[in-house]
Amino acid sequence: MRGEPDLPTPPHIVEAAERALRNGRTSYPDNRGELALREAVAVKLHRDNQLSYDPASEILITTGATFGIYAALMALLNPGDEVLLPDPIYDAYASPIRLAGGVPVRVPCPPRHQRFELSADTIEEQLTPRTRALLLNTPWNPTGTVFRADELRAIARVVVERNLWLISDEIYEAITYGDARHISPVAAVPELRPRTVLVNALSKTYSMTGWRVGYCAAPEAVTRAMLLVLQQSSRGPATFIQDAAAEALRGPQEAVARMRDEYAARRAAVLEAMAETPGCRMMEPEGGFFAMADIRALETPSDEIRRKLLEERGLVVIHGAAYGACGEGTLRVSFASGGETLREGLRRLRLGLEAIAGT
Ligand SMILES: Cc1ncc(COP(=O)(O)O)c(C=O)c1O
Repeated sequence: MRGEPDLPTPPHIVEAAERALRNGRTSYPDNRGELALREAVAVKLHRDNQLSYDPASEILITTGATFGIYAALMALLNPGDEVLLPDPIYDAYASPIRLAGGVPVRVPCPPRHQRFELSADTIEEQLTPRTRALLLNTPWNPTGTVFRADELRAIARVVVERNLWLISDEIYEAITYGDARHISPVAAVPELRPRTVLVNALSKTYSMTGWRVGYCAAPEAVTRAMLLVLQQSSRGPATFIQDAAAEALRGPQEAVARMRDEYAARRAAVLEAMAETPGCRMMEPEGGFFAMADIRALETPSDEIRRKLLEERGLVVIHGAAYGACGEGTLRVSFASGGETLREGLRRLRLGLEAIAGT
């Protein structure tokens, strides 16, 4: 059900943490993040995203992407500022917007031809004088959409013309399928750079969800404001964790490719297992490790189907409406876990949906 990879953290990263602990790397970290890790992030952004950020003034290390999003919102929002959120989207964005005094405003993104899309026109329809920022997630949880360069250019035009901030959560960047490739919005449209906070974490790419380590890249003034938030609340991940994170980013990347292959095989298994299920059409994810099951043909609220699957089959999926009104009529199926868990989960999902369809 969750976005929790069942694959272990690669051993060379675990060993780097052990080494750092043994070397006494247990005192307070630099509040911005250890310089060695900020430098590793700069190298990574250049290598993987064709982006250039100054590790001294434009990069901040955070406790996961969660804290990066929070710090960005706290730094950017004034009370009553509106933040545009594609609908459906990751459910943990709306609350930090409210905590920062902002107002989440949904941008409807109903599926078109079995793909959730965000159009510049719909963004424009939601603009008001209070609109301050757009929060984007590519690859996009829960929909599986990976924004193409032309889509990013159209979205960027509105962001730039309307003088908005872009908060770009790129946590699933390494997990893409087929021809889909992650493009960092700032790489697609360099004019975005002065108005973008890039948020990322090692959580998904390196199976490090429990390590709580992530990073942000943003113009110096915003990074400085985010640092004030960080200093008064978290003060960053443990020093030895940061050493291991630097090893993850700078060391061999073969494990990332292997994980991508594993998720690709699971994705294929999901699509194959569900192919003939009555009333259900799987939307093929381009990235991430979730697949949306389009169950609109069953003409039953997705929350009701979710509850039936839980109570009658012992199976947990998340109803699309939990991510916003435009997710209604879908179920989010996670393949972050594989093996027997996934096989049995898919079997129960198929049987459950067949029973609801009355076949
Ligand atoms: C889109 C998105 N952003 C952020 C997070 C949280 O990231 P982290 O665990 O690095 O805080 C998740 C976790 O599921 C997510 O799906």
